[in-house]
Amino acid sequence: MNKIKQPDPSHFWAVVPAAGIGQRMKGKRPKQYLEIRGKLLIEHTIERLLAFPLLEKIVVVLGQEDMCGPELAIMQHEKIVLAPGGRERAYSVLNGLHLLSTDYHVQKQDWVMVHDAARPCIRQCDLYQLTKLLSGHAVGGLLGVPVTDTIKRTSKQAIITDTLDRSVLWHAQTPQMFRFGLLIGALEKAMDEQVTITDEASAVEYAGFRPLMVEGHNDNMKVTQGADLALASLYIDQQAKQLGER
Ligand code: CTP
Ligand code: MG
Repeated sequence: MNKIKQPDPSHFWAVVPAAGIGQRMKGKRPKQYLEIRGKLLIEHTIERLLAFPLLEKIVVVLGQEDMCGPELAIMQHEKIVLAPGGRERAYSVLNGLHLLSTDYHVQKQDWVMVHDAARPCIRQCDLYQLTKLLSGHAVGGLLGVPVTDTIKRTSKQAIITDTLDRSVLWHAQTPQMFRFGLLIGALEKAMDEQVTITDEASAVEYAGFRPLMVEGHNDNMKVTQGADLALASLYIDQQAKQLGER
């Protein structure tokens, strides 16, 4: 007898790390509070997550000294909850996850999407694609884009040793979406063992799991340095025009 595939009954939650100081941006304030097209960067990012209907709550992790974030109108939305930041991104994410487990009875099998406040151009179609392709998956995965440049490996003295096969190389982005219990366990393990991790997936990989890479778009860039602001502004403008044309 054919088994009818049941829809994944898991709930969806989000954590948005926004407790960084934006050192590389060299701005007057942390980059999440810089303006792009009349809105703060963090407002663009959160609006896009709020527009994605599957998310039950969005935990925004703000710096402990941050006086600006909690006052913003968007932070008063019923789906938004605030958590205090940590000294590194991974600790900020863990603080957000702990808040979800203590205050919202999140189940181990539920999905949690971690998305950098510094990626304001995330598309609805990519959020949808991530949740669709991970439906029923035991671990989780992340958005990324294939590497298009030729990639060289060098010695410390910049002497080329080889050229990598770029057909299997990707740029990792966020959102990164994992089963809640698995992600907390993986991040805590990495922290306990003092392993350097740069994203959620690297903690999950270190714990022995194999996340799925889901192809997204290049415009889901991370605003890091000064010139990135103009590019993000261009993408946001372009995306609005494309929506208008439909
Ligand atoms: N972040 C965080 N807590 C930290 C450090 C970073 O929540 N202790 C957040 C940032 O606010 C950002 C995301 O993690 O939304 C990605 O980090 P990154 O782009 O490195 O931002 P910053 O750490 O602010 O920038 P920089 O590294 O240039 O200081
Ligand atoms: Mg940083």
